[in-house]
Amino acid sequence: MSTIPIDVRAASEKDADQLAGVQARAWQGAYRGIIPGLALERFIGERDGRWWQRVLRRRMGTLVIDFDGTLAGYATCGPVRRRIVPADGEIYELYLDPDYQGVGLGARLFNAAAKHLATRRLKGTVAWVLDVNEPAVAFYRAMGGQPLAKSGEVFGGTRFEKTAYIWR
Ligand SMILES: CC(C)(COP(=O)(O)OP(=O)(O)OC[C@H]1O[C@@H](n2cnc3c(N)ncnc32)[C@H](O)[C@@H]1OP(=O)(O)O)[C@@H](O)C(=O)NCCC(=O)NCCS
Repeated sequence: MSTIPIDVRAASEKDADQLAGVQARAWQGAYRGIIPGLALERFIGERDGRWWQRVLRRRMGTLVIDFDGTLAGYATCGPVRRRIVPADGEIYELYLDPDYQGVGLGARLFNAAAKHLATRRLKGTVAWVLDVNEPAVAFYRAMGGQPLAKSGEVFGGTRFEKTAYIWR
């Protein structure tokens, strides 16, 4: 029997095109029927390979799950963006390709991102999630996140409530 290696590693510029593909599929899976279609397609279209190359050059914390050369998901993380929450670190995004969801890879990526933040001496982690994204809310709760703060965000003219989950 052969085994397929699964690696969580820092992303490099070579990953840009695959990251754009993973993101497009994950966003369509998570937000189709929730975020108005045109707005969703615009967001996805903006985040092409060149967009990812610029992100990766800035050396923000970007981790990928590498499934024997195929990217299954990614997380971006770094210093907290909105100081209204008592945490130094933030997971900005965490998305898995739909084909790879539900088998423990999200938990693995989450733990790697939390460790990445802790090794940079960022104490406490926060992640914002849209309330309508019920699978993601269930995931963050299963990972031990506590709801802490509310805010809102407008996509395509529709306002969505979002909640900050915290790990102290
Ligand atoms: C949300 C997401 C990251 C979870 O990753 P995953 O690999 O599917 O989740 P895992 O298999 O690692 O599950 C980890 C825990 O979360 C729970 N969980 C995950 N999805 C769940 C769901 N839809 N409903 C209930 N619990 C869920 C699991 O039961 C597990 O709990 P346990 O440890 O108590 O058994 C992934 O499904 C995804 O990328 N979804 C689409 C994009 C998205 O919404 N990202 C979050 C944006 S804020």
